[in-house]
Amino acid sequence: MLIVSFNQKKNSNFVVEFQNRLNKQLKMKQKVVVSGIRPTGNLHLGNYYGALVNFVKMQQEHRCYFFIADWHSLTTHPDPEVLHSNVKNILAEYIASGLDPQQATIYIQSDVKEIAELYLLLNMQAYLGELEKTVSFKDKARQNPNNINAGLLTYPVLMATDILIHNADFVPVGKDQEQHLEMTRKYAQRFNNKYNTDFFTLPRPFNFGEDLVKIPGLDGSGKMGKSEGNAIYLIDDPKTIEKKVKKALTDGGPTGECQPKPDYIENLFTIMKVVSTPDTVAHFENLWNRAEIRYGDLKKQLAEDIINATSPVRDRINDIKANDEYLNRIVREGAEQARANAVNTIKEVRRIMGFKSF
Ligand code: TRP
Repeated sequence: MLIVSFNQKKNSNFVVEFQNRLNKQLKMKQKVVVSGIRPTGNLHLGNYYGALVNFVKMQQEHRCYFFIADWHSLTTHPDPEVLHSNVKNILAEYIASGLDPQQATIYIQSDVKEIAELYLLLNMQAYLGELEKTVSFKDKARQNPNNINAGLLTYPVLMATDILIHNADFVPVGKDQEQHLEMTRKYAQRFNNKYNTDFFTLPRPFNFGEDLVKIPGLDGSGKMGKSEGNAIYLIDDPKTIEKKVKKALTDGGPTGECQPKPDYIENLFTIMKVVSTPDTVAHFENLWNRAEIRYGDLKKQLAEDIINATSPVRDRINDIKANDEYLNRIVREGAEQARANAVNTIKEVRRIMGFKSF
């Protein structure tokens, strides 16, 4: 402020540089973390234990931005009738899972119009050949040959924008998003090189190390995922949970003592390790090793413990969804906070690129 009043015009670049340096210094203390989720479907146990539990820890230590990527969901042309309720569901589930608007900035992507502007600018750093080679693009194009739209092609640029708009240091992403993060670094580096600046931070994947739990599905096919039809959702009621667990893939049982477990049985134990007490897990491990296990009992216990673990979250989801005033305030304040930062980024990017006002 002092410097601004000293000689506003001549020193405006200097002021901006000064602010940047100050921001960088602040950042040394608190790393910026950005993560988004597409509003397609509900959160399941895999999202909860694999990601959200870690987000909740992260928000205490870092400057976190968590958002609902509603623009990203447009690649599949969602019905206007359901777009809003999808966003509302995920938002309520985020908050019910422990994301705290007092600690982190929680917002809706489409509320921050600056993202659209930066997306346009970053598109100039993205080359067709690279975009066409992106694994997620090739997969989706193969699955839906009649809907290969330009938004799908430039999906990674929009994701890069989400990250760079806040100059994130870390992005907690799963394996399937790592290539997108690599592309983000490429665009950031290209921009920095082209304009001879170090404005954009090159974001890195956030590594949870030991903390990373991978929740398997109930059908023995591997990871729990919304497209797999093997998931237990946070909003599932006790009856539904019981039914799903009962249907989980098993076999005739171990034929001898201390056999290695087949994948689909190991999966049930993996979920049990997350939701049950160590005693319970040890009890069933013993039964397995003695070849005395009864899958019916295992499943009954597992269902009960999943219900106990998720019921408070489900109650909170329903409370939050019924409170439009509360949601409205969170979304409004989140957008305000996110925009305050986004506006600064855009201002600086425009200056660096040579946009000037008349
Ligand atoms: N592409 C991510 C997914 O499908 C969602 C996403 C959009 C995202 N923008 C992001 C994740 C920015 C992290 C950072 O899961």
